[in-house]
Amino acid sequence: MRLRVDLLPHGEYPDTVIVVDVLRATTTATVFLEHHADRLLFSGSIEESLDLKSENTIVAGERGGLAVAGFDLGNSPIEAGTGSYAGKTVVMNTTNGTYAARVASESAKHVLLGALRNAHAAARKAKSLAVEEIAIVCSGERGRASLDDTYTAGVLCEYLLAMGEFTLNDGARIALTLRRQVGDPIEPLSSSSGGMSLESKGLGEDIRFCARISESTIVPTLQGSTDGQVIFVSG
Ligand code: MLT
Repeated sequence: MRLRVDLLPHGEYPDTVIVVDVLRATTTATVFLEHHADRLLFSGSIEESLDLKSENTIVAGERGGLAVAGFDLGNSPIEAGTGSYAGKTVVMNTTNGTYAARVASESAKHVLLGALRNAHAAARKAKSLAVEEIAIVCSGERGRASLDDTYTAGVLCEYLLAMGEFTLNDGARIALTLRRQVGDPIEPLSSSSGGMSLESKGLGEDIRFCARISESTIVPTLQGSTDGQVIFVSG
């Protein structure tokens, strides 16, 4: 089986994809489902999200790391972890993560959301679903490869290589080399451009939360996409 890491979302995924935006969209998405959200709806824009505001939705997301005006919540996993969302749809829109998930959902058979928080569970689920290829898609930072997502892809590759034989692409080799060089995730997450931006906004605690490995067995899984909105549920 092929194990491919794309340092940025390219599109054209024939089989199973794990989308990664460890700081913070895929970590926060996992936390919303841990706190009983019925489903996550990844919108295509801030306007679409605001149009979806209702008593049955929680509208969350960020620009520049901070909550968008009119949204109920920002994109902090710690903030998300303070509530319970039973009976609610959480509508998310962020700079990089929700975009990458929408790109993957255009072609892939299976799309999972992966982060350090659910790394082992996401790797196990991808291995159980894939037939020919597992693609780990890093969201990056505004069109540029990011240290934090690439490192997280390395952790996922490490788990997968313990589960079976794979043919690796260069992206996977880069991610694995990084992971094998640096054992503690705090360093690559904090020194990434996304991490430094969060720290500068007083959101350093989110980085330390996102750096905790395999504490959750929740794997947000693509249920489908309707009217351009991509839906994830707890898988
Ligand atoms: C993103 O999608 O760009 C990130 O999740 C942004 C953030 O959380 O600050």
